Amino acid sequence: MSAVDVGGPAQPLLTVRGLVKHFPLKKDVLGRGGGVVRAVDGIAFDIRKGETLGVVGESGCGKSTTARLLMHLIAADRGDLTFDGETVAGAALPLKQFRRQAQMVFQDSYASLNPRLTMEDSIAFAPQVHGASRQAAVARARDLLARVGLEPSRFAGRYPHELSGGQRQRVNIARALALQPRLVILDEAVSALDKSVEAQVLNLLLDLKQEFGLTYLFISHDLNVVRYMSDRVMVMYLGQVVEIGASEALFSEPAHPYTRALLSSIPSLDPDRRTEQPPLAGDPPDPINPPSGCRFHPRCKHAEVVCAQRSPALLPVAAGQVVACWMHVAGSGHSAAPVAAACGSELSP
Ligand SMILES: Nc1ncnc2c1ncn2[C@@H]1O[C@H](COP(=O)(O)OP(=O)(O)OP(=O)(O)O)[C@@H](O)[C@H]1O
Ligand code: SF4
Ligand SMILES: [Mg+2]
Repeated sequence: MSAVDVGGPAQPLLTVRGLVKHFPLKKDVLGRGGGVVRAVDGIAFDIRKGETLGVVGESGCGKSTTARLLMHLIAADRGDLTFDGETVAGAALPLKQFRRQAQMVFQDSYASLNPRLTMEDSIAFAPQVHGASRQAAVARARDLLARVGLEPSRFAGRYPHELSGGQRQRVNIARALALQPRLVILDEAVSALDKSVEAQVLNLLLDLKQEFGLTYLFISHDLNVVRYMSDRVMVMYLGQVVEIGASEALFSEPAHPYTRALLSSIPSLDPDRRTEQPPLAGDPPDPINPPSGCRFHPRCKHAEVVCAQRSPALLPVAAGQVVACWMHVAGSGHSAAPVAAACGSELSP
């Protein structure tokens, strides 16, 4: 059985606040360079119980760093993580206990598996470390192999090099489920697979989510796949979150200019609607020296003076949708912003 739902369904499974990770850069022999890569630069979001939260953004925007921070695979410079109401790595939820409940599946199916362990032993390893008997751990490993579509009598004794990429990724998913986690972070977990195998593994993930009551954080560069999998989507740009919204609303009416540009890069299936114009000009700027104000301003066709001067906060624009853009903030000084509400004293009788 999975761990108990401590705070009830309305309490987010994971709450992330003020998360920061800067990687220091080495100086060269002449003392030049140094500085820091602002890989994750003050992000806040919730993962709700039972949802799939998709994460999108160009290469280098901080998706994997965020995932590794959530898993405590690397230490954050700042920030608070709360898992079902309890501080992660605090007195009530020590790291070992948290790690049982949160698991991660990576892109590289081969590197994630120990070449000297059979599939059965790979899956049974973590439960044994956490105190399960060998017999119980192996029985669960075989059960999980069957659940991910790999007949135990054929696959339990095989080694990683004896499997295809898709089969290995099924084993990695089984291994992630061996400790009965509540949260599974999938970082480009299907990106290396052929399209037909990818579709099978995506559907397997959806089935397992239903069966085990899982919550997913789903990172992918493939926007169509994110749309298919996610209940909500978070858009990152240069180490920050620029928009979060319900998947269908965000894909049909993106509010942030970066989200709009990113989504218009999805190739349309309709040849009449295909565009030759690149939606996003230039490479993303350097995360070592990010632009002032709104980090997207050098590439944004709506940029105005205020955009280079001040950084917009993530604010609600509609039910369930938050956006960081001055165009959506009344009285921000951006010409497209709504007019600020009249002040109360003028309206009073
Ligand atoms: N260990 C590290 N040391 C220094 N810089 C790092 C390290 N890990 C990541 N970075 C930098 O941090 C930034 C964010 O990297 P990250 O891997 O989180 O991006 P990503 O969004 O996952 O990209 P991709 O889509 O290519 O996987 C990048 O500029 C990257 O070069
Ligand atoms: S704040 Fe300004 S630069 Fe940034 S996305 Fe909005 S309009 Fe563009
Ligand atoms: Mg990555």
